[in-house]
Amino acid sequence: MDTKPAYGENVTVRIEDGIAWVTLNRPKKRNAINPGIVFEMVAAIDAIEMNDDAKVLVITGAGDAFSAGQDLKEYFREPDAGDPRLREKLHNANSYWQWRRLMFYPKPTIAMVNGWCFGGAFQVLCACDLAVAAEDAQFGLSEVNWGIIPAGIVTKSVAMALAQRNALYYILTGDTFDGKRAEQIGLVNFAVPKAELEARTTALAKKMMEKNPHVLRVAKTAYHRVREMSWDSAADYLNAKNDQMQVRDPEKGAQKGMTQFLDEKSYKPGLGAYKRDK
Ligand code: COA
Repeated sequence: MDTKPAYGENVTVRIEDGIAWVTLNRPKKRNAINPGIVFEMVAAIDAIEMNDDAKVLVITGAGDAFSAGQDLKEYFREPDAGDPRLREKLHNANSYWQWRRLMFYPKPTIAMVNGWCFGGAFQVLCACDLAVAAEDAQFGLSEVNWGIIPAGIVTKSVAMALAQRNALYYILTGDTFDGKRAEQIGLVNFAVPKAELEARTTALAKKMMEKNPHVLRVAKTAYHRVREMSWDSAADYLNAKNDQMQVRDPEKGAQKGMTQFLDEKSYKPGLGAYKRDK
């Protein structure tokens, strides 16, 4: 029987005060994404999804790096030379967690970029809902420097996240840039001094924890879906989704919010969330 834990070696998880801190844990290799990280991440985020103590998921890296991107040896060179079926399995699993799974994850996600962030790590960064970076974190689309294009789904993610001039500048030059610049071009929500990184990320997570989690889940899914739709389809989809969401909302938030504002006059929706049952 395989007694190896599904995660805990290349990916560690700590759940505290509603936040699931998921750490890429190969600091000696600058958290380069190898098969260990890929398969452990799939298992870790599956487990967090089902854990009611985890309200918000934060992804960060151990040591000096967020992640140096895909592991050139263990993700590219070795699988390229091995059984093509295993290579495909690895690439599919990687694309699954870095792209669809994170983008449509049912809980809010934050990338906490503590240091180096290269190549494939942009995929993780862009798939998270929000991102906070250390001011001195270093970012780079370094693929061009070693003879590939930002593949996986990195170029698409960057095209969606950045304006064309910035996207193409960094894709074509491979120049590095710091957290402050990442904030300026909208790649992260804000850059903060490294000493404040965890506290500011915690505050952001707590802000989302005040809101109805059912609404957050549907809101982020709707955002991603309507980006691909025509205006007419988007309007139909959003109205139908909103109706469906209210029917299925376990805490009946819209009714509560209206009652507290219109009848009880106990809060103002413009200034914060309605009072949720504990
Ligand atoms: N793939 C495989 N191994 C990597 C790696 C990657 N993406 N990034 C770092 N490593 C390994 C190094 O080979 C080194 O291994 P070793 O100790 O066995 O020699 C170890 O991690 C430490 O890296 P090092 O380069 O010595 O650290 P540094 O702090 O001086 O530099 C970086 C950090 C991130 C600037 C540098 O490692 C780097 O350029 N990495 C590649 C980044 C990249 O292009 N990623 C895109 C992949 S799509």
